[in-house]
Amino acid sequence: MPELVIEGTYKLNGSTKIQGSKNAVLPIIAATVLINGKSIIKNCPELSDVMASIRILENLGAKCEFKENVLTVDGSKISGYTIPEVLMREMRSSSLFLGAIIGRNGKAIISSPGGCELGPRPIDLHIKSLNLLGATVKDKNGYILFSADKGLKGDNVHLSFPSVGATENVILAAVTASGKTVLYNAAKEPEIIDLADFLNKCGGDIKGAGTDIITINGVSKLNPTEYSVIPDRIVASTYISAVAATGGEIKLTNVNPEHLSSVISVFRESGCEFKIYKDEITVYAPDRIAGVSTVRTLTYPGFPTDAGPMLIAALSASKGTTVFVETIFENRFRYIDELKRLGANIKTEGKIAIVEGMENLSAAQCVCTDLRGGAALVVAALKAKGTTRIGRICHIKRGYEDIVRDLRKFGAEIYEE
Ligand code: EPZ
Repeated sequence: MPELVIEGTYKLNGSTKIQGSKNAVLPIIAATVLINGKSIIKNCPELSDVMASIRILENLGAKCEFKENVLTVDGSKISGYTIPEVLMREMRSSSLFLGAIIGRNGKAIISSPGGCELGPRPIDLHIKSLNLLGATVKDKNGYILFSADKGLKGDNVHLSFPSVGATENVILAAVTASGKTVLYNAAKEPEIIDLADFLNKCGGDIKGAGTDIITINGVSKLNPTEYSVIPDRIVASTYISAVAATGGEIKLTNVNPEHLSSVISVFRESGCEFKIYKDEITVYAPDRIAGVSTVRTLTYPGFPTDAGPMLIAALSASKGTTVFVETIFENRFRYIDELKRLGANIKTEGKIAIVEGMENLSAAQCVCTDLRGGAALVVAALKAKGTTRIGRICHIKRGYEDIVRDLRKFGAEIYEE
């Protein structure tokens, strides 16, 4: 099985371009189901989750082509409405296709999404919202059947939690529904704005994306368009964590600094300095960062849960102690046992992790437990003295186009074997 081999520890120095955002492109790919014609998506990262989404589209009848970060989707022949179990299991966020498939074909069948590495990840908010918009829902032998024979109809939808996926599914179901939908307590992540911008460019009528109240006036037709996806703020956070762990100076190009403000503020407190330009950030990190006051993950614009594991990895070599509170997922700490193999000193109690910074980390053999947990192991391994080997790197490939290419541009001693 392929492994990452990382030689620590070297200061990082260099520059890399940040890839397009995984969590922006996945709902935009789902949105192409609604479009009868050729959509062109640029700055599309080459990820296993993107390839899984392409397989879902092709299974529905779309024609797809992916070349040099440009994905072309011809949705004119889409007639399918089922996401097969094997694809649902491969990518939990396949549930993002629900709203668009029902919007296009009046029905959808998916297998109930299993939990994932982060704990139970139900889709009750998605189901309740789609039901409100006119889809009847039936559970049958592990499959969920949605049908809206008379088409979807706009309504007021209140989310009990500002779920990113549920917000995206409501937008995708409402954008070509009849009438108006007002979504309350919507997620405000930048990826929601990117989806709304894409759909509005196709002729949609969506207002308020990025705030907690989004108004969608259904339109009869969406037209194919060309669109470039926003940069990946979590990949950028990963590389900031990497230089914070090792010390040094790196430049990130093709970033949106506004999307990183909560992450930058935490690393500033730890002793890193930043030079911020319109779409570029330079990070100056000391030899050893300091611990920071309590970090709590929150929905946007709070500190992102996805950036937590890589921050904890960097803090594992800090001076001082940091209390970290995870408020979004049940089980986000599975990777911490693997971090401890590298010498990290972290105590967890429920959703709280207490990180005691160590002067040195030491190389070990470890395995990824999930996507961002795997990225955390890479960050810690860059600081660990000796040669670290990381297994089950398929997790990392779900969200990082080429973490070896990017880190080698900073002078890291890393390769895939
Ligand atoms: C999106 O997941 C992201 N994935 C996640 O990124 C990210 O961690 C998460 O939002 C939070 O920001 C994509 O965009 C593809 P949620 P999503 O619905 O939509 C509970 C990564 O590493 N919930 O906001 O699944 C849920 O269990 C991934 O790139 C319900 O209870 O997140 C979780 O505890 C990991 N019922 C919380 O809400 C529901 O119907 C947040 O979930 C839906 C969600």
